[in-house]
Amino acid sequence: MNNNTSYIEKNKDRFLSELIELLKIPSISADSAYKNDVLKTAEAVKDHLKNAGCDTVEICPTKGYPIVYGEKIIDKNLPTVLVYGHYDVQPADPLELWDSAPFEPVIKKTELHPEGAIFARGACDDKGQMYMHVKALEFMTSTNQLPCNVKFMIEGEEEVGSVNLTDFVKENREKLSNDVILISDTGMIAKDIPSITTGLRGLSYVEVEVTGPNRDLHSGLYGGAVANPINVLTKMIASLQDENNHITIPGFYDNVEELSKEERAEMAKAPFNLEDYKKALNIEDVYGETGYTTNERNSIRPTLDVNGIWGGYTGEGAKTVIASKAYAKISMRLVPNQDWQNITQLFKTHFESIAPKGVKVKVTPHHGGQGYVTPIDSIGYQAAAKAYNDTFGKQPIPQRSGGSIPIVALFEEELKSKIILMGFGLDSDAIHSPNEHFGVFNYLKGIETIPLFYKYFTELSK
Ligand code: BES
Ligand code: MN
Ligand code: MN
Repeated sequence: MNNNTSYIEKNKDRFLSELIELLKIPSISADSAYKNDVLKTAEAVKDHLKNAGCDTVEICPTKGYPIVYGEKIIDKNLPTVLVYGHYDVQPADPLELWDSAPFEPVIKKTELHPEGAIFARGACDDKGQMYMHVKALEFMTSTNQLPCNVKFMIEGEEEVGSVNLTDFVKENREKLSNDVILISDTGMIAKDIPSITTGLRGLSYVEVEVTGPNRDLHSGLYGGAVANPINVLTKMIASLQDENNHITIPGFYDNVEELSKEERAEMAKAPFNLEDYKKALNIEDVYGETGYTTNERNSIRPTLDVNGIWGGYTGEGAKTVIASKAYAKISMRLVPNQDWQNITQLFKTHFESIAPKGVKVKVTPHHGGQGYVTPIDSIGYQAAAKAYNDTFGKQPIPQRSGGSIPIVALFEEELKSKIILMGFGLDSDAIHSPNEHFGVFNYLKGIETIPLFYKYFTELSK
């Protein structure tokens, strides 16, 4: 047993109980009813950072939820690692689909996690993964092994688009200066297959409203004679993808990078079993853009998805009505080089142009962000690879993820350093879904691996 694992073994129960306490606070940033809980979580994170060995900790106010900042500077000549994470979580609904209450964490054994998994909203995304870094710091400071400087920036608005973090970063470049940014808010290929996320997709999120007649109408008296906003909206949405599931918005693909044959062949080497994939989702077949594999479709290709659609009568029984309005929320996942604001504009122009005269269309942009790719020859990547090699006994696989952390591209642009995404989550963790969980194995492996990143990054920086 090495030094790290014996410390972790000794403190394992406390590491779990502290995380469980943090998970009990419902820090849902999207719902203002939870405002006090979100603020309470910021306070808790601040206290934990202090206890783990930060010399200064503060709650930095923003126009929205505060950013928790902490640092321990041991020597100005040594490298500095900036850790980013988020303490806010997604809403828990639909509540009835949870087997245990989302904010009453329980550890349960599963087939994949015989040593147990923590079930709670935020267990993996991102409280559990963020807290691995706090405990890794505690390990390094209490065993006198912190090899470099460390800064923490933990925000409370990631799940609502990190709207106020941009200004905070721009206004605090000096304070946040660093040599590498370390984030655990992504996943790994499998429990025994470590991977480092080398890409994230960008995002453009819009809401559309289609208005027909000035009031709801009798669908018999008016049906067939006026545009039904719901019929029109669904037709418009359907036309956004052609028979090859290619997006039809003019200019949408203009800046999409086409990977070379070699790069695609390299990607295809990552372990993936289509049958298992289908089985896990209980689907007969996968579905997507012609000419690309499943792994390509959900990482290197842009997509357009309706996330919600509503209008008209949805209550019990039947009501014969043509609604005056119909709505949808649409997300577009983007790849590096696609500019999210440009894509939002292209969507708006196109969507307005395809509307029949009988309706009015309103497109409201929500939030978005740029995609991100990072090379595997940076010192940061090499340090992470060595750390995983030590704790898993094998080289991690570079993998581009389909998810988005919109602020990551801005970090690189403003702070001029590389971002290393050491994710310990699994696709089966059900983030954003009912029964979100995080394997105890994954949590402890993270705490064990992170200090080794610090060690190797400091060594390689010399
Ligand atoms: N941690 C996720 C993103 C993620 C998860 C990336 C797994 C890669 C693998 C993050 O909290 C998230 O949910 N991002 C949102 C975007 C945000 C603007 C709401 C997303 O990807 O939908
Ligand atoms: Mn997250
Ligand atoms: Mn999330």
